[in-house]
Amino acid sequence: MPVVPTREIVQRAFKDRYGVAAINIVNDLTLEAVLAAAEELRAPLIVQTSVKTVKSMGADLLYAMWCEMTRKITVPVALHLDHCPEREVITMCLAKGWNSVLFDGSKLGVAENKQQCIEVVAEARPYGAMVEGEIEGFKRVEEMADDERVNEQSLETAVDFIRSTGVDIFAPAIGNAHGMYKATPKLDNQRVTDIVEATGIPVALHGGTGMTADQFTDLIGRGCAKVNISTALKIRFMQSGYDYITEHPTEYDPPKLFVAQREAVKAMAADHIRMFGSEGRAW
Ligand code: 13P
Repeated sequence: MPVVPTREIVQRAFKDRYGVAAINIVNDLTLEAVLAAAEELRAPLIVQTSVKTVKSMGADLLYAMWCEMTRKITVPVALHLDHCPEREVITMCLAKGWNSVLFDGSKLGVAENKQQCIEVVAEARPYGAMVEGEIEGFKRVEEMADDERVNEQSLETAVDFIRSTGVDIFAPAIGNAHGMYKATPKLDNQRVTDIVEATGIPVALHGGTGMTADQFTDLIGRGCAKVNISTALKIRFMQSGYDYITEHPTEYDPPKLFVAQREAVKAMAADHIRMFGSEGRAW
């Protein structure tokens, strides 16, 4: 099985300064579509699952699908649990075989977040799993006032969190948010450089949907080795379904609808893989 440790995927990208697409899937169709894009472009890929997706589908079914669909894949891929504040879900996914987790202790306060993150790192190590950490939390664009930014912690606090927890990758707030930005976001790119220079670990770029190609290129060059995309997949999945039904209002043939959605999601994944410079980086 070509599933490799997430750490290996991220470390290679960090060293050679390209970005690995880390795409949140929502079901079997979207999982297959993003894997197909990676395979076609010979790119490494991180497949992300939200806690909501894990719970709605069930970890057993989701993981069985993952194993079956990656059996014949020939590019390096890994399965990641995105933003998880629930320790028991982390424990379950690590035991099942997820390759990495983002412990989201951003609502706990930094001291408690740090303590629990140390425990998550200790739990993940025997599995060879990678741990991502965060201290600021990300809001959804829809919940934010115009020009509102998540408060950044100081560089010292971020560096201390990274050093004391031993996380492999860190997700800082740099003016990014989840969802669809109302305008191109103003990002604190220098903060990525400061964190990378102070700690030597890669940064995970959240809120990728709606950033420009120039923003991606600059941030990846500074050390954003993992680039998260979620909303773009949801939009393409739903919009392509809506468009197909609108164009074929009396055709009751779901597999044809699925083909249209699969192609749209695959094209979205391919566009991002190309933009992040990871095409042809499979080993
Ligand atoms: P978007 O939904 O803005 O693409 O953000 C994805 C993300 O950061 C998932 O953790």
